[in-house]
Amino acid sequence: MNRILPTVSAENLTQFETLALATSSMNLADGHARQQLTAAQSKIVAELPSMWAEAAMRPAPEIEQEATESFFGMLGQHSHPFAAGRTLSCYSSSLAMEILARSLVTTSDAVALIHPTFDNIPDILRGVGLRLVPVEEEQAHDEDLPAELLEQVGCVFITTPNNPTGRVMSEARLRRLAEQCAEYGVVLALDTCFRGFDPDAQFDHYAVLDASGCRWVVIEDTGKLWPTLELKIGWLVPSANVDLPIEKIHSDILLGTSPLILLMVKRLADDGADGGLAELQRTIADHRALLRAEFADVPGISFVDEHARVSVERLHVGSRLGMDVWSAVRSQNLYVLPCQKFHWARPHEGERMLRLALSRNPSTLLAGARVLRSALLDAPELQG
Ligand SMILES: Cc1ncc(COP(=O)(O)O)c(C=O)c1O
Repeated sequence: MNRILPTVSAENLTQFETLALATSSMNLADGHARQQLTAAQSKIVAELPSMWAEAAMRPAPEIEQEATESFFGMLGQHSHPFAAGRTLSCYSSSLAMEILARSLVTTSDAVALIHPTFDNIPDILRGVGLRLVPVEEEQAHDEDLPAELLEQVGCVFITTPNNPTGRVMSEARLRRLAEQCAEYGVVLALDTCFRGFDPDAQFDHYAVLDASGCRWVVIEDTGKLWPTLELKIGWLVPSANVDLPIEKIHSDILLGTSPLILLMVKRLADDGADGGLAELQRTIADHRALLRAEFADVPGISFVDEHARVSVERLHVGSRLGMDVWSAVRSQNLYVLPCQKFHWARPHEGERMLRLALSRNPSTLLAGARVLRSALLDAPELQG
């Protein structure tokens, strides 16, 4: 028998994700890494006490340099501007986003933002009073942006790989977009938080952006890759010519990030470069295959993002409403993410999709998939 659950109200995706954090639930909701540590990662975690002593002794800028070199290097971002003092570490990528938003609003009132994308990006931009103009993902990837759009905004913001679609902007497309932004004096901002999952997102973005001459800002993130219990670094990386008060606002908010976390990031990134990242990519691919196999014979179900490699996967639930499926599986203790809020400009476009997290242990993923599968097959109100 289904448990009687209190009605829920969730105003954003994070509130939906918070509902899943009860210890007894199967949580396939948030995109944070919750899989088991690998053997090499466990070894690094076991060394945290000695890293603490090291972090307390050594100069923080030296540790920050090593962490930056290792993390950006692991991801192919060799032209990063650490030497020029432009890789600003933050407690999280959301904080980097907040600093960017507060900087942008000093010179501009509107941002062109990719649609759909994770809703804390539009929420943070709107939170400082910026007006948002949607740029459809297909449009951003396939065509030049219209002059009328570029004339009315101070920034074009692209998430690549995108959350939830996994779509990656190619090098040729990034080059062209950067040229357009240079031509119109518009800042090109990239959220690359998911780039570790997809080798296609690991060409040297900083070389492309610098060559274009455009004003640019990139947000990098360690937070989606490793199961480090929310110990993470977000980096805010502006171009030399950005002409925004980013450093000032960063220093209004923080002095620096923890050298202990930076040391841990360095060690995890070195392990990543030494095969750990490829192993993670294989794990996510295996989890994706496991999920797809579990739903292969369920009528009216499809996986939307055929080529995605990121650690989340969208499921189209046919003629059902995602919220109805969400409620049905919630009564079985499974939490997934309904997709309408990713479609921040037109939520109805996401109402027949769910997003499932792949960065979990296979047993959790399989148990969750089976609950979802039987809800879709057995519940009469959920027949597609
Ligand atoms: C694309 C993207 N950027 C940024 C964030 C924010 O990350 P955090 O909560 O670690 O600040 C998220 C969160 O899931 C995200 O999906």
